[in-house]
Amino acid sequence: MEKILDLISKKVMDAFEGCGYEASYGKVGISNRPDLCEYQCNGAMAGAKKYKKAPIMIANDVVAALKEDPMFDEIVAVNPGFINIRIAGDFVAEYLNGMQADERLSVEKAAEPKTIMIDYGGANVAKPLHVGHLRSAIIGESIKRIGRFVGHKVIGDVHLGDWGLQMGLIITEVKERQPELVYFDESYEGEYPEEAPFTISELEEIYPTASGKSKVDEAFREAALEATAKLQSGVRGYRALWQQILNVSIADLKKNYGNLNVEFDLWKKESDAQPYIPEMVEEMKEKGYAYMDQGALIVDVAKESDTKEVPPCIILKSDGAALYTTTDLATIIERRKLFDPDEIIYVVDKRQEMHFIQVFRCARKTGLVKEDTGLKFLGFGTMNGKDGKPFKTREGGVMRLEHLIADINEEMFRKITENHEVDEAEARETAKLVGLSAIKYGDLSNQASKDYVFDLDKFTSFEGNTGPYILYTIVRIKSILNKYRAGGNAVEKGHILVPEGESEKALMLALTGFNSMIQQAFEELAPHKICSFIYDLANDFNHFYHETKILSEEDADRKRSYIGLLDLTREVLETSIDLLGFAAPERM
Ligand code: ARG
Repeated sequence: MEKILDLISKKVMDAFEGCGYEASYGKVGISNRPDLCEYQCNGAMAGAKKYKKAPIMIANDVVAALKEDPMFDEIVAVNPGFINIRIAGDFVAEYLNGMQADERLSVEKAAEPKTIMIDYGGANVAKPLHVGHLRSAIIGESIKRIGRFVGHKVIGDVHLGDWGLQMGLIITEVKERQPELVYFDESYEGEYPEEAPFTISELEEIYPTASGKSKVDEAFREAALEATAKLQSGVRGYRALWQQILNVSIADLKKNYGNLNVEFDLWKKESDAQPYIPEMVEEMKEKGYAYMDQGALIVDVAKESDTKEVPPCIILKSDGAALYTTTDLATIIERRKLFDPDEIIYVVDKRQEMHFIQVFRCARKTGLVKEDTGLKFLGFGTMNGKDGKPFKTREGGVMRLEHLIADINEEMFRKITENHEVDEAEARETAKLVGLSAIKYGDLSNQASKDYVFDLDKFTSFEGNTGPYILYTIVRIKSILNKYRAGGNAVEKGHILVPEGESEKALMLALTGFNSMIQQAFEELAPHKICSFIYDLANDFNHFYHETKILSEEDADRKRSYIGLLDLTREVLETSIDLLGFAAPERM
């Protein structure tokens, strides 16, 4: 459906043109003085110079032409030349009825659907997920869902870190503990065992131990580097052990991401890009982009216009080893080959921005991507504790994601059971849903690039700009609808009437903005726009609810209209939170 602002603008633009002014002056926006009007057009001021006329005269001309138009309840020219508009109630009602009939709630499908890959999550194998990975998962998942909703083909890839020194460290530590394992017998030619020689909890303990050792024990570090090289060069036993690490780790990651309602289409890994590296390197050398500098193979990516230094891309280290950059470049080749994406969006900590500047420039310069392939870096800020420093456990350690989620769920459970008797099992389930809304909304309501403070009390509150408040509002609507149904009535679409009250109209106007908000949220990769939209919408609804007797309304048509309006509000809210990656319970 066409956006309501476009419909109004079109009308006013035609009037400008009809009065002999350029149509473009007739663009209408949402009023920034809601006490005076709902929409406004400031074009008369802009046109004054051109037409050598007082702006109010232009505004008067246009208003005179539109005075009788049924689209408006009120259209007035005010000094010095504003055109203030109140839209007609039946126009809004019709718009909402149209929206209700549309399964996409008025949001148009992209005219030219693109294939978009989203690189998010970015967990590292065998390391526990920590809060740093939380943001990438939450934001990336939301962008993926928004992109799909507006009609693009979106492919989410977790892009696991599975190839660096961390693997060598783990292998070396396992070897020290269980040297007798067949993986380390280089003369072994048989099948390797199916069962992994460690559990996930052992694995999660092995990595930090090994990493700690490598910092103080030079010989251990050497051994780990050697193990990494052996793994990368394809030594059979090392590969088999690595595969075991992957299996155990991925099973656990899937469970954790599942709890977050985050689902990847692809479980690709850094290692999957390795086969593309040799040819890529050869080509870069051949075409003269890559050259040796102090033993390393590099590509210059600096530009004259740079205000800060952009160091060259190191493609191979002096020992010939591939780096994070190399992997990311080769992954671009792989993605192009397998999916030919129009765009790749990387949702990664903004501290990695320079890395991506280098990778993108190098990919363009060396022709790894087509000219019109978009490469976007969506860098996010840090999640801090109340002390303003990166979020830690009470003991000052790295907070594991599972623990963070458990803490929130516990707090939600406490709140839900505080004031009333509820079935424990149901309360636990509800606490999970509400807890997830607290975490995700707490994160997504901030502009992604900004740091934010993780504030458990604030995020889990049922009041204010929080996930639980939004869910509470949805549940309130559902309960009214259920009561209406219980009285033997059907909730029907398409019967929304001209609003009678102020708060009713405000709610209706808020709903009309859904399509334009969604489009903006996608174009700007900005889930926070959805959050602020639904927060305002929830407030508008609650305002209406407090002023209106809904179920006890005597006029049956009016009541049916209220119920329709409630149901549309619910649908818009539920669709929105689904795009944010969480859902509402039936009761709470
Ligand atoms: N594994 C990386 C990390 O933990 C993030 C990966 C981001 N994606 C990428 N294509 N580099 O920092």
